[in-house]
Amino acid sequence: MKHLTITIDGPAGSGKSTVAREVARTLGFTFLDTGALYRAAAVAIERAGSDVGDNEECGRVISHTRILLTGGSIEVDGTDVTEEIRSPRISELSSAIAVHPSVRSELVRIQRSFRGLSSLVAEGRDTGSVVFPDADIKIYLNASATERAMRRQKELLTKGTDLPLERVLNDMNRRDNRDSSRSASPLVIPEHAVVVDTTHLTFHEVVAKILSIVEEKSADK
Ligand code: DC
Repeated sequence: MKHLTITIDGPAGSGKSTVAREVARTLGFTFLDTGALYRAAAVAIERAGSDVGDNEECGRVISHTRILLTGGSIEVDGTDVTEEIRSPRISELSSAIAVHPSVRSELVRIQRSFRGLSSLVAEGRDTGSVVFPDADIKIYLNASATERAMRRQKELLTKGTDLPLERVLNDMNRRDNRDSSRSASPLVIPEHAVVVDTTHLTFHEVVAKILSIVEEKSADK
């Protein structure tokens, strides 16, 4: 059978990471968390002490860094950064360095290398529009800004970071604006994507909805 590629894109807090992971697990597909690659790149650039506003310098650091994404963990030059990449500091920095075309081209190369080995569920901001424009099934997840901020606040709390909702909402809006307005591969609803609004849906309802879209669409293939 032909390998399938499913892309799940959306803004911060839309639930795409947890949902995409569960969809991949249920279908037995490889899961590709592209945001984790941008986050690991941010760690590498921060460690190198580079100017985060310099496209060429950031790209050079990434071309000399070994980023290894396997299963649920990620390494930067042999150091496990799985926990570190989820901090608010790295959330902010990853969005800042993601505007650079030189960083994006290095990371897109890594992302495309995941294809062909097995069927794939890729999640991120541009997986359906730029990384895998010919994906078999494209999903775009969204939710209201307040709902997304509440989810992010809860997630941070489970990791020991307690922030007021207003601060989480402000940080998220700033990141969303930057991710959607940058000139290199901005966050967009990819052509032919099915849009799912998750504001009033539970995690299990979103997973079930995506699985039914996959079943319906793959029957047409
Ligand atoms: O999905 P996330 O919150 O882990 O992503 C962190 C940042 O990485 C996000 O603010 C923008 C960037 N990113 C991107 O530009 N393109 C992707 N495909 C995935 C993430």
